[in-house]
Amino acid sequence: MQEKQRQILITSALPYANGAIHIGHLVEYIQTDIWVRFQKMQGHICYYVCADDAHGTPIMLRAQQDGITPEALIERIAAEHQADFKAFSVAFDNFYSTHSDENRMLTNTIYTTLDKKGHINKRTIKQAYDPEKKMFLPDRFIRGECPECGSADQYGDSCESCGATYSPTDLKNPVSAVSGATPIEKESEHYFFKLGDFADMLRKWIRAGHLQAEVANKLNEWFEAGLQEWDISRDAPYFGFEIPHAPGKYFYVWLDAPVGYLASFQNLCDKTQLDFDTWCKAGSNTEMYHFIGKDIIYFHALFWPAILEGSGFRTPTAIFAHGFLTVNGQKMSKSRGTFITARTYLNHLDPEYLRYYFAVKSGSGIDDIDLNLEDFQARVNADLVGKVINIASRCAGFIKKRFAGKLAATIHDETLLKTMVDSNNAIAKAYAAREYAKAMREITTLADKVNQYIDDQKPWIIAKQDGRDDELQAVCTMGINGFRLLVLYLKPVLPVLAVKTENFLNIAPMQWQDVADTLTEHTINAFKPLLTRVEKKHITAMIENSKEDLNAHGSAQVAATTPLADKPIADTISIEDFMKLDLRIAKIIKAETVEGADKLLQLTLDIGGESRKVFAGIKAAYSAAELEGKLTVMVANLAPRKMRFGLSEGMILVAGAGGRELFILSPDQGAEPGMRVK
Ligand code: 2FM
Ligand code: ZN
Repeated sequence: MQEKQRQILITSALPYANGAIHIGHLVEYIQTDIWVRFQKMQGHICYYVCADDAHGTPIMLRAQQDGITPEALIERIAAEHQADFKAFSVAFDNFYSTHSDENRMLTNTIYTTLDKKGHINKRTIKQAYDPEKKMFLPDRFIRGECPECGSADQYGDSCESCGATYSPTDLKNPVSAVSGATPIEKESEHYFFKLGDFADMLRKWIRAGHLQAEVANKLNEWFEAGLQEWDISRDAPYFGFEIPHAPGKYFYVWLDAPVGYLASFQNLCDKTQLDFDTWCKAGSNTEMYHFIGKDIIYFHALFWPAILEGSGFRTPTAIFAHGFLTVNGQKMSKSRGTFITARTYLNHLDPEYLRYYFAVKSGSGIDDIDLNLEDFQARVNADLVGKVINIASRCAGFIKKRFAGKLAATIHDETLLKTMVDSNNAIAKAYAAREYAKAMREITTLADKVNQYIDDQKPWIIAKQDGRDDELQAVCTMGINGFRLLVLYLKPVLPVLAVKTENFLNIAPMQWQDVADTLTEHTINAFKPLLTRVEKKHITAMIENSKEDLNAHGSAQVAATTPLADKPIADTISIEDFMKLDLRIAKIIKAETVEGADKLLQLTLDIGGESRKVFAGIKAAYSAAELEGKLTVMVANLAPRKMRFGLSEGMILVAGAGGRELFILSPDQGAEPGMRVK
């Protein structure tokens, strides 16, 4: 049954314009694109817009570091992003930039309206300031010693070693990650959005079915904790939009970013004669959906609806949050080669494999999604190639060779075909509810049925017997009709396979309503392989390539948070000072996660007959299992330190910027636990 035609505006989160698209991002773009394609196949009027998120301090600094203007940086990245999206068949109706006239106009209008209605406050606050670089420092650009555990070189907002969170003013011996200078405190006037003015509206909105249940619950917690005013201004130097009538003050990137959804749509409207106001002004009866990651719910489910409401725009129909991507059960890691950029993936594997696998793993909730590379290979090869594609290759040859490509006049097994057609409602329902895993299961079950039919009918035997030509043609026609329906159902997920299939079957682009059609007395084209199997060696090469890529691709996002100036070498020490350190080869006997600590592992070390327990903030970079049995180097005479999670009896040596970028030091083979390191 066909629903009435709907008007739907859909967005995915705007990627920052300072780094490559990676497979973690692709979860969202692929999930959204599947939904968009499904809605379009249903015959709805649907626009999918996105843009690069081009403003903010990291982008400004990144451009400086590269010796180019921010405009040049964002232009280069925009081209890269769009090439990646295109290759993965993520088909935006418009991809734009937040650094655009439309976005400046809309952001100014929104701000001015909010200000007129009294929703903006000004007050002076104190912030860390880099006196050398002459700029205020976001928390992530201040490094220092953790006030809780003393670990060196921690971020201004949290410690990667003990997991403590604090404010940058609590850091000991803080330095600016931009210049290495010691930050000072400086006052400046900031502009705030009075979120509390919208408490009543938000309380209702949160419970009105616009959010997934688990998201609504989380928001209620935040809500109860109180709605703080939101700081929406930043001081020059800043890459962004200057606030009207406030020279030297800029809109914080997170204010103009979601406005970028509307700006991209406005740009599309101007190009295509659509009426922006009908879609976006308060009272609109069109629908608007935002697909986002679970880390940016606060911005989308509190600030954004309040801002829209306060400035006369429509609020979102729903926000669909998803979880993060893990690879082989762990966070993506550069050292493990699982931080895979879209480009590196494309150099080795067919994008349709990943689209299919993400569909197989996607539900409507916010659980993380695991890309298990062995399972990835198995699902694509066994289900997609082995079950679906195989049907066409089993039947097409006979039709082509024995019947000049012509299908029979009747359907051989009406009941089977009816079962397949009748499944369309359940499959459509699963797509609509973003339960893609369920849709894929339904489709695979149907593929099993068609394969069973072919196994039972044995066309390869019929083909050898005289006088059974009609039967052969009928059986293969049935197989081809089954295959056609399977590909129709898979079309939102596998658009390239669908186009190849439409060419092979010599039919017009399939829409959902075409489920009712049958292909009889119709001439098809010669079958060419539509999708090949995933080969292990290509996966391995992709992983190796991603390890090599460490600094080439995808590093920008990380670089934006790592020190820009080389750290000054520490003060000179005497050999006597050095000799005070008792460095020992240590064998990691046991590595365990620590309850309540996101970043820590507890290591039990053997230093030649003596055992020590130490805490190390390396969980993001290493799994417990891979550490056990490894040799490393420890400072054995460091005074024991009481940490939040217990006593740490020494320290192991690691290199790197922190987070996933950490490398433990290991001796060459032959070293023994307990040996002194000199
Ligand atoms: O978290 C991010 O990557 C942001 N660039 C997303 C912005 S989404 C929207 F609000 F613009
Ligand atoms: Zn700490």
